[in-house]
Amino acid sequence: MFEFILPLSLVFLVLYILTVQFRRTRKHGEPPLIKGWIPFLGKALEFGRDAHTFLAAHEKNNGDVFTVLIAGKYITFIMNPLLYPYVIKHGKQLDFHEFSDQVAPVTFGYPHVSSGKFPGLPEQIQKSFRHLQGENLDCMTQSMMGNLMLVFRQDYLSGESEWRTESMYQLCISVMFEATFLTMYGKPSHTNRHSGMVTLRKDLVKFDNMFPLLIARVPIFLLRGTKAIRQKLINFFHPNKISSWSNTSVFIKERAAIFEQYDRLGDIDKAAHHFAILWASVGNTLPATFWAMYYLVIHPEALAVVREEINSVLKASGIKADPNKDLSLTREQLDRLLYLESSINESLRLSSASMNIRVAKEDFSLQLERERFIQVRKGDIISLYPQSMHMDPEIYENPEVYKFDRFFEDGKEKTDFYKNGQRLKHYLMPFGSGSTKCPGRYFAINEIKQFLTLLLIYFDVEVLEGQKPCIQDPRRAGLGILHPATDIQIRYRLRRD
Ligand code: HEM
Ligand SMILES: *[C@@H]1O[C@H](CO)[C@@H](O)[C@H](O)[C@H]1NC(C)=O
Ligand SMILES: *[C@@H]1O[C@H](CO)[C@@H](O)[C@H](O)[C@H]1NC(C)=O
Repeated sequence: MFEFILPLSLVFLVLYILTVQFRRTRKHGEPPLIKGWIPFLGKALEFGRDAHTFLAAHEKNNGDVFTVLIAGKYITFIMNPLLYPYVIKHGKQLDFHEFSDQVAPVTFGYPHVSSGKFPGLPEQIQKSFRHLQGENLDCMTQSMMGNLMLVFRQDYLSGESEWRTESMYQLCISVMFEATFLTMYGKPSHTNRHSGMVTLRKDLVKFDNMFPLLIARVPIFLLRGTKAIRQKLINFFHPNKISSWSNTSVFIKERAAIFEQYDRLGDIDKAAHHFAILWASVGNTLPATFWAMYYLVIHPEALAVVREEINSVLKASGIKADPNKDLSLTREQLDRLLYLESSINESLRLSSASMNIRVAKEDFSLQLERERFIQVRKGDIISLYPQSMHMDPEIYENPEVYKFDRFFEDGKEKTDFYKNGQRLKHYLMPFGSGSTKCPGRYFAINEIKQFLTLLLIYFDVEVLEGQKPCIQDPRRAGLGILHPATDIQIRYRLRRD
């Protein structure tokens, strides 16, 4: 785990020498400026340790908009969620994709897409995301159910109804990883499951553990072994291999077809793009599934209500749950599981810590309210940090408490949440905002719902006694769903009734 400390200190030293250029002072009309005592790194270390507390403290001293120097970047945080819409709708001077266009190719190992070498490619990639919605989402949802049943049945549902023990995170990632993979990329033509899934998953976890460092632009060659693991992961998606699989989603087929139009993309480059999508599709979903399951299992009263809701939707549709037969639920039926959806959203509220980033394309004056403007410099980052909103006691009473029905009221979804007496347009943002909003969000919520539905109708699940509660590992602050710092032992058995 600590093998990268030495190279890291080397990086810090180089960065230190480069700091001379970071001697900025606040100008008229700019938000309060906070620099750390370590030039360049600024407040990065403190931010990484506990972003939410860090930002709350600065909000108290500096007001709801301020600029912080973090790892060489000047980041202006807009803390007040009533101001979010001014940033989210702002098109002209703020760039949504500059950051991901810069960082993603280096992290996943494909050539820069918007370098002019591949005319039209960024637009086509962007358009391919529509296949994660609408009609194709129905196909993926149906296919996901079959794949979840397959993995559950073969690995967890076999025969006897004795109690068995397992680690909760382990269960979530082994089932969700493989079922998601099969749904997106398809299966080998003559069997139902790929060999090498366990190795692929373990390699992805190793790569993912280095993800925060890669995003912080630590060069991959300093992270021992990571480059070789990434190459192995990429090779799994060689175009010849993918084209031999069947039941591949329209989304992945469409992307493969797009890549074929570009002679300058080599096979390994295409494979690296497919690998990046694997990461996008499971990187946040696996920990999100864990927290959704964890909070339900440690709150038996919530679990009972959600299980009852699932049973009544099944009953109303005349469906009898039988572990030997495939269970299928239409999107319409999934949409009716509102307690379940509320419980998932509540766990996302508690576990998501993604930062929404926009880059200023020029010096300009950003309007934040009717009479309020702030001066922004070219290259500065404007950031929303929704975790601060998710944990605001004015918006969510007792925000640290899990209330499975927080987003449910009078038989329907609750959508009115307030700040300073004003109704909020955005109150739950685990999936980003505006034009960088996650295109996989509907699929993600559906698949977590399906996982929990199968789990609750087929299994009794309990946490083994005498264990400490799971706490969040802060290392993903800013990057998505936080991981659990430790796993937790459960016991499960087939339900009898
Ligand atoms: C709970 C699960 C998930 C969470 C919390 C999540 C969150 C996010 C967030 C916050 C972003 C925006 C990043 C930015 O600001 O640039 C994003 C982007 C993205 N997500 Fe998700 N995501 C989830 C699941 C998925 C799934 C299942 C898929 C695919 C099937 C997916 C595909 C993508 C893609 C392709 C992008 C990049 C979009 C672009 O470049 O415009 N995500 N996700
Ligand atoms: C694969 O696709 C075929 C034809 O569309 C379908 O009948 C079959 O159920 C699918 N198999 C899986 C495992 O999804
Ligand atoms: C849960 O959140 C998703 C996306 O964030 C939203 O579309 C959905 O309406 C929410 N559902 C409930 C019950 O809160």
